[in-house]
Parts: sequence; structure tokens; C-alpha cells
Amino acid sequence: MSIKLTDKEFKLFKEYIHKISGIHMRAEKRVLVESRLAKRLRHFGCASYQEYYQLLQKDDHEKQMFIDIITTNETSFFREPHHFEFLKQIVLPACSSHVRIWSAACSIGAEAYSAAMVCDEILTPRRINFEIACSDINVDVIKTAQMGLYPEKFTSQISQKYLKKYCLRGKGSHAGHFIIGEELKSHLLFRRLNLLEPLPNDMGEFDVIFLRNMLIYFDGPEKKAIVENVSKRLKKGGYLLIGHSESLFNITDCVKQVKPTIYTKL
Ligand SMILES: C[S@@+](CC[C@H](N)C(=O)[O-])C[C@H]1O[C@@H](n2cnc3c(N)ncnc32)[C@H](O)[C@@H]1O
Repeated sequence: MSIKLTDKEFKLFKEYIHKISGIHMRAEKRVLVESRLAKRLRHFGCASYQEYYQLLQKDDHEKQMFIDIITTNETSFFREPHHFEFLKQIVLPACSSHVRIWSAACSIGAEAYSAAMVCDEILTPRRINFEIACSDINVDVIKTAQMGLYPEKFTSQISQKYLKKYCLRGKGSHAGHFIIGEELKSHLLFRRLNLLEPLPNDMGEFDVIFLRNMLIYFDGPEKKAIVENVSKRLKKGGYLLIGHSESLFNITDCVKQVKPTIYTKL
């Protein structure tokens, strides 16, 4: 018989998730929390969610595992394509030296590699170097991003021109997958970061920051804290990109809107 998550236990996990990631777990996510954690209960042989909760408090490795399980990492290559057009048509042609981009909630890296393909196409012929910093709170997705190995179904999101130039068909144990070419990969740097925590001093500033489809999981005060934290790393005149269902209206005026979902720092 499956173990049920009680109201009290859901409240306990909801508060804990908020404490460690800032994410606001709405009531409708209860079934999701229950089913995702059920596997961990089975793994440890816990008789209740409360028992797993106690175990979690004492085990840092499991704490990261918990974050990896609880976060939603849905993504795709060239998601919300108008941002990549904006990069290609407006941002990159105006750059004259080393370009720095940050994919701040990068998930498995599809967003970062999409940006890298556009940068390589526009900047490399002009002999302008570029780097893409990639970060996420979830270490599991960062490992996938670092490998740059994806199921073939993702190829439908990438143009034939880019597929030919930047992706290789997987062979042997990688059959049914494609892998990002080493040259393109070499422009990406990965690290685990919680965007609600102070950011490392060595990060520097960026020309463009992708902060897309992440703010939806947070309430007003956390949204404000994240946007202001991240925007500190945006160069003056640089661009902050958010997801199509997100808005900074009444959240913060540390950046100014130039187009829907596109902001700049004055
Ligand atoms: C839905 S994915 C978005 C991926 C990509 N930006 C896109 O638009 O396709 C949201 C990502 O935010 C990450 N995330 C959630 N809370 C975070 C936090 N506090 N700090 C950093 N990343 C976080 C999740 O792990 C997840 O990979």
C-alpha cells in the first residue's frame, strides 16, 4: 500500500522547500511532491514522509538530492525564439569586444547552447570571443548540461544549419542521442548557484542574462530578491531576459523594460 502525505507533512516540506530554495510550493503541487518523494521513501525504507523529513535534516547529500527532485527543469533549445533573434539582430552586432552571457537558471543547458550557437555564428567571423556562464540550484541538471548529450527528439528544435555545424550524432552507448561539439562546449562554464544567496565575487558582469521560466516558482519578495541579486551582475546597457509568462511589474525597478520580457540596466 502506498504511503500518504498528510496535510501536516505537506506543510513541513513546503516550509522546508521555501527555506532552502525560496520556491513557493502551491497547494496544487501536493501530488507532485508526494509522488516525487515516494521514490526516496522507498530508497531509505521510510514508513512515513515525516521519517524521511527527519533523515533529510541530518544528511547534506540527501538535501541536494531533495532539491534535484523537487525543482522543475522543463526546457528546450531555442525556447521563446524571439530572444535568440534579439541576440542575433540587435545585441551581438553592436558588440565590439569579448561578450559575456549568463544562463542563470540553465537547467540541462539547452538555453545556454542555443545562445552559444548564435554567438558563434555572429561573433566568431568577426574574431570576437564569447563565454557563456551556466548555473542552476540543481546539480543533476548541471551534470547533463556539462555533458551536452541529449536525446534525439530535441533535434526538432534546432535548425538544420546549426545541427550540422554544432552537433554530432551519438554512436554506441550514445545511440539515439546527439552531442554538442567540443569547440562550442569550450565557451561554457558551469557552477551550482542558488540565486537567492549572495553571488560569488569572481563572476564579473554580463552583457546578457537569461533568467527565464524560473521566477514563476517564486512569490513577490523572493522574485524581487532574485532579480535584484542577478541584476547586480548586469553591465550598464546590458539586457535581462525573462520568460513569456513572467513580469517584473510592481516587483522592482532596478531594470527598465525595453520590450515585453526584455529589460535593460540604465
Ligand atoms: C523551468 S527551468 C527553466 C530553464 C531555462 N531557463 C528555460 O527557460 O528553458 C527552471 C530552473 O530554475 C532552477 N531553479 C529553481 N530555483 C532556483 C534557485 N533558487 N536558484 C537557482 N536556480 C533555481 C531549477 O532547478 C530549474 O532548472
